[in-house]
Amino acid sequence: AKVIYIASSGDEYAVEAAAGDTVMAAAVRSGVPGIVAECGGNCSCATCHVWVDEAFAPLTGTVGEAEEDLLDMAVSERRPTSRLSCQIRITGELDGLTVEIPPEQP
Ligand code: FES
Repeated sequence: AKVIYIASSGDEYAVEAAAGDTVMAAAVRSGVPGIVAECGGNCSCATCHVWVDEAFAPLTGTVGEAEEDLLDMAVSERRPTSRLSCQIRITGELDGLTVEIPPEQP
């Protein structure tokens, strides 16, 4: 499935991600800047924060309890479609998923 990352600079990165991969891991592996992922996907750092495109938000699953607390601590503004990208798993129906990377992470 293709995932499109929009950096705060406006640059777009299209990445081919395998099903089962996370939105965070696909970005890190492809060198997409701005997804820091300090904790390596353990849902304990909030430096993989993204704003999910509204059209896709309902397809990305629900926000877990730990994720909920971390999103409140994220450095950039929390929006209704804020997610931790390590908690979004790629599925076929997410093809074309577009996420915006906030300007600040750590
Ligand atoms: Fe740390 Fe997602 S990588 S919370």
